[in-house]
Amino acid sequence: MLAAWACVLLLRMASASQVPWRLSDHNNDWSVELSTDWNVLGPFPIHAREQHYLSPSFPLNLSEPVDYTASWPSSYADGGKVLWSSAVSTLDGSLQVSFPDIRWKSLRDTEGWAVLQHHAVLRTTLTIYPPKSASQNTLSPSDNPKLLIHLFQGSYFAVLPTDAHMKSPRWYTGDVYAMERALPHVVQLPTTPSLVNPTTYEIFVSGDYEIRLFGDPHVHGSDVPVQNIKLTVDVENTSLPVVREPSQDVVCNFVDGQAFGSAVGIGLKSTAGWWTVESVEVAPESAGYFNLELVRNIRIAPTQTRTVPLRISQFKSFYNSQLKFKLTLVSKTPIVFDIALDITQSPQWSDSSFPTIQGTYFYATSMPTAFLAIPPKYENHGAPKPPILALHGAGVDIIGQSFWADSFSRQNHSWIVLPSGRTSWGLDWHGLSAADAWESLDALIGILNDNSAFGSWSLPLNSAVIVMGHSNGGQGAWYLASRYPDRVLAVAPAAAYIKSQSYVPLIMSRSARYMDPALSAILESSLTPDNNDLFVSNLVDMPVFAIHGGNDENVPVWHSRELISILQTWNPNASAIFQEDPGKLHWYPTVLNNERVQAFLNGVIESVSSEQPKVRSPSFTLTVAIPAESGSLHGWRIESLDIPGRIARLVVHTMDDGKVFVTSSNVKAFHVDLSIFPVSSLWVDNTRVHLPHKLDDMLYMKTVEPRVWKISDDPNQLQSSGRMQTILSSKTPLALVIPDESHSQELSIALRIAHDLHLYHRLDCAIIQSSEVFTSGTLDGGNVVVVGNGAATHLRNSFEIRNPPPEQPLDIPGIGILFLHPHPTNSDAKMLLLQSTDSVGLERAARLFPVRTGVPLPDWVIIGPDSDRVGAAGVVSAGVWSSSWTWNEPMSWMY
Ligand SMILES: *[C@@H]1O[C@H](CO)[C@@H](O)[C@H](O)[C@H]1NC(C)=O
Ligand SMILES: *[C@@H]1O[C@H](CO)[C@@H](O)[C@H](O)[C@H]1NC(C)=O
Ligand SMILES: *[C@@H]1O[C@H](CO)[C@@H](O)[C@H](O)[C@H]1NC(C)=O
Ligand SMILES: *[C@@H]1O[C@H](CO)[C@@H](O)[C@H](O)[C@H]1NC(C)=O
Repeated sequence: MLAAWACVLLLRMASASQVPWRLSDHNNDWSVELSTDWNVLGPFPIHAREQHYLSPSFPLNLSEPVDYTASWPSSYADGGKVLWSSAVSTLDGSLQVSFPDIRWKSLRDTEGWAVLQHHAVLRTTLTIYPPKSASQNTLSPSDNPKLLIHLFQGSYFAVLPTDAHMKSPRWYTGDVYAMERALPHVVQLPTTPSLVNPTTYEIFVSGDYEIRLFGDPHVHGSDVPVQNIKLTVDVENTSLPVVREPSQDVVCNFVDGQAFGSAVGIGLKSTAGWWTVESVEVAPESAGYFNLELVRNIRIAPTQTRTVPLRISQFKSFYNSQLKFKLTLVSKTPIVFDIALDITQSPQWSDSSFPTIQGTYFYATSMPTAFLAIPPKYENHGAPKPPILALHGAGVDIIGQSFWADSFSRQNHSWIVLPSGRTSWGLDWHGLSAADAWESLDALIGILNDNSAFGSWSLPLNSAVIVMGHSNGGQGAWYLASRYPDRVLAVAPAAAYIKSQSYVPLIMSRSARYMDPALSAILESSLTPDNNDLFVSNLVDMPVFAIHGGNDENVPVWHSRELISILQTWNPNASAIFQEDPGKLHWYPTVLNNERVQAFLNGVIESVSSEQPKVRSPSFTLTVAIPAESGSLHGWRIESLDIPGRIARLVVHTMDDGKVFVTSSNVKAFHVDLSIFPVSSLWVDNTRVHLPHKLDDMLYMKTVEPRVWKISDDPNQLQSSGRMQTILSSKTPLALVIPDESHSQELSIALRIAHDLHLYHRLDCAIIQSSEVFTSGTLDGGNVVVVGNGAATHLRNSFEIRNPPPEQPLDIPGIGILFLHPHPTNSDAKMLLLQSTDSVGLERAARLFPVRTGVPLPDWVIIGPDSDRVGAAGVVSAGVWSSSWTWNEPMSWMY
């Protein structure tokens, strides 16, 4: 079935990898100049993140000549049409894009924030100048300069030749969030520049105003939204084949000579060639103090940047200001880096003074990751007091700024852990960012328990926590508390929004004007796991203290009021306190640091210390969307769903005589931990369950048909799919698999994905060829992304690729296909295949690789060329797999 499209040959370009390294300095004499004159076309209504489905050049078709005199329909403009306009950037590439002729106020009066979302396409030129000394004889094609291009606060850019139209431009993602410690893309020119004359290229940019990112223009006293875009272009210096990228280093603090963590990371970029890290050697003068060991094989693809993971183990206290060691890499020849990494030494904290400590750990077994911890004033007296997990707001860089750590008062007995969430935006504390929060806490516990110097400050494994957060972090606090209710003792969310679609409504959707609402429903089911409102049922027995400024200009105060109202609707007895601070804006220094919050924390800590039994309502409802990304409530955990893509619920009702009645909705398997929730007699869906005489702690139940239950002898498989983004939750670096040969486009896509995952989530990727899958240990590890039909063909020789999506549309050019697939050997991991009917379709599939929150992508999507004009309405087929990875009729849609 798959073969019909798998054998369609991809349009291939000459392989440009494996450039042999040779020392050349004349590359450095290439120069580049970006024009300051821009053409601008817009604004066009879209909803948030819709640009990932549309063509980034919408409404232009770059396969055809661009008509700069044409007008285009846009419902934002007077008369319903927009024309090209011009704009001028500053010399540093900063460009302000706005459309002051649009009557924004009038639009906004009826449509609110949703109407500020808009798309524009921007165009300028860049000119490359060859080295003065060069001539045709002294330069070879491998000397073609590569460009370092960084687009701040734009969605995509592409570089095109001026004289030819590109069937399939390679779009690179912008750094739309203006992320901390961001690196530019390394961009290959689409055609060889002249070696004797200047060559001019066009550069197109997708400029998309996102109110969540760029804010409300009212804050600046204006009605007109302004995109502040910046584009910088440089020629890459290739005089060294591998260079350090110190901004990507990760290192822990030392406290009284003790490393506060085990992870050290060294940022390295290959400018040319494939480089493998061979060894690490501690400098002789430090060898008696600590050792460093390479955590995994690291190979760096040409132009890729990776953070090399080194595990530090210490023999004695170390008080120097630098860690010194040698790192050896090999390609054809070795290259040695002498590294001296600055470290921060702090004295042991005391009751009167303390540092905010930067600890480190290995996220997903090998990604060096930093977090912050604020130690308590007093060491443990008796049982340790619960720690506090504090989730920062969007755009807050906890490492580079002290703002977030300064927002808390040090506690008497509780540690405060400030995780990064991977980056300042991450996945809004969902998915991998939630995992990072839990793993940061576990890392702190490990550091305290493993080091005798910190023994009197230790915490038990799997400590339950109090979660706090502000803004996006407030939203994240609702998320963690409602998805992991048994691990959260209490929650104090400040200035939280409910979910992205409530923050900025999707009413200006372009796609929706063309789409079968049944398809919308399937696509939007991939946002269900993010919809905090639907999971509030899980919080009825948790102390909640929500805080919100009464005049919040960023997250309107009604969001917290609504969440509290939902909670009280589920159970009027819920312990929900809402503190609305009249007149306060989004941020004020006392928002989480005040007497009422402290009294709430003290109350929770007191009730834990006095071992008061946990509150448990006689009746409660557990709501789950993706079982692998949800914990238990009072010991009850849903393990798989009847119809993934829909929510599942268990209503647990305890009678006065101790009988327990459970009603299920869309649940296929669940368990209950009887040590947390003792059960003597149980009914599920009105049928008595005959409990064995000798009960283990865990009672596993599964259906034989809907709502007909039996006890399972073994744990049921946890369902981990439900949306494409779950591919990011990997136990190890993602393996990006490309074909062995003729893989220019696939390698380019893999490098772009690796860049984006590093930029947006500090996720590490290994790029491997398909024949290496079986020798590189890839299949023992985490998730795998297969880029292109060529790579899949090779794998298919070795294991069956099951469940390809339906083949109907596959004779159409320009089709992109993305589907999750079970991992061939590891049931904890999964694969995502990016396939297509041609190279245009592969670019289209690659643009949908799930990097950002809010892009609706269920388990599988087939996307056609119409998406260029009508966004997600160009989906020809999409769906969610069943819990056993088979066809799921109610959650599938075909054109
Ligand atoms: C390129 O890098 C080399 C080695 O780091 C350095 O010596 C040289 O000055 C750089 N050239 C330019 C143009 O930056
Ligand atoms: C873009 O133009 C090419 C060449 O004219 C055409 O084949 C293609 O269908 C157009 N694409 C769209 C989405 O209109
Ligand atoms: C911390 O402990 C001190 C000394 O026992 C006490 O006076 C103070 O009230 C405590 N602070 C809090 C916030 O409980
Ligand atoms: C609320 O508490 C009252 C008094 O304890 C109890 O009778 C009632 O069942 C509770 N309601 C719910 C929904 O749990």
